[in-house]
Amino acid sequence: FTASIDADDVEKGMYPHYMMKEIDEQPGVIRRIVQKYQDETGAFTIAEDLQAAVINADRLYIVACGTSYHAGLIGRKLIEEKAGIPVEVVVASEFGYDMPLLSEKPAFLFISQSGETADSRQVLVKVKALGHAAITLTNVPGSTLSREADYTLLLHAGPEIAVASTKAYTAQVAVLSILAETLGKAQDIVQVHDMAHELGIVANAMQTIIDEKEQIQQMVLDYVATTRNAFFLGRGVDYFVSLEAALKLKEISYIQAEGFSSGELKHGTIALIEDNTPVIALVTQPHTQLQIRSNCSEVQSRGAKVAIVVTEELAQTGDTFVIPNTALELTPLVSVVFTQLFAYYAALSRGCDVDKPRNLAKSVTVE
Ligand code: G6P
Repeated sequence: FTASIDADDVEKGMYPHYMMKEIDEQPGVIRRIVQKYQDETGAFTIAEDLQAAVINADRLYIVACGTSYHAGLIGRKLIEEKAGIPVEVVVASEFGYDMPLLSEKPAFLFISQSGETADSRQVLVKVKALGHAAITLTNVPGSTLSREADYTLLLHAGPEIAVASTKAYTAQVAVLSILAETLGKAQDIVQVHDMAHELGIVANAMQTIIDEKEQIQQMVLDYVATTRNAFFLGRGVDYFVSLEAALKLKEISYIQAEGFSSGELKHGTIALIEDNTPVIALVTQPHTQLQIRSNCSEVQSRGAKVAIVVTEELAQTGDTFVIPNTALELTPLVSVVFTQLFAYYAALSRGCDVDKPRNLAKSVTVE
């Protein structure tokens, strides 16, 4: 038994593609998640036994594939910073067959939009057999991973039909931020932000970017209309978003794209930079902005066509696209929307099948 949704049951309405509809839905999804996780006093609530399973563990292993793995990378940052719990993020297909030495008392968090991915499931089966606690974060209640784990956290994103995941990624990061804050509060760790309030600001910021989609479409024509390859650069959370940005562009436009930690570029990959190679840099974190700007100058001097996507707070004259300020740990939720629209218009300009890219399936149930 697998829980799945038939695309015919979900209307595209006025939208030319499910992907654009799902990108547009994101501000509403974030607001819905906040509501679903709040109790009547407005405080976030997550089952106490689920919280205890994580707090009593000496390490949380996040296991996922594809876009969900990229959400897990952001989740690690959030949970380590806000809840002080060490987190390791692992690719399910590697972890299942090459399991590292586990900590003494691990807990596992499986992130899977569909809840059906075979690579993730085989890890779940193994860790359950070892007697470890398992939580599934999924969009599909009743899915295999949800049924087989001890606890489930739901995304409440609504059905995602386009093969390329968009709103599930942002929903995953939003729920992970709520989990991180809740686990932190449960341990009396002082929280810098009121997450419910900050997620409201994120929803508005996402809408601002969606309203500027024509500007992004124009940028795509300037940057990647005819290119064979492209690079996304960042540091810290911006690096994690650059991995997702590159995956999205590859999946639907077939442009060979790479997400790179901008500091690592000079240790080899910079050899690939030629005249007019598009390089899109994400700059949202004050403590790394000087370094990433200097990495941008390095590639620019080798001919790259650099676009700087930057938060208002850090913007300088000549930067390419400005995104609204949000809490620093939540900027991935906003910058990623730019990269989703960028991939969408790149695919569209090349005449690709946006919703059903070649060789890909929405949910992969073979290992
Ligand atoms: C497939 C999809 C990806 C997705 C991955 C993990 O490869 O094409 O978009 O990220 O599976 O899916 P899951 O449902 O486990 O999040």
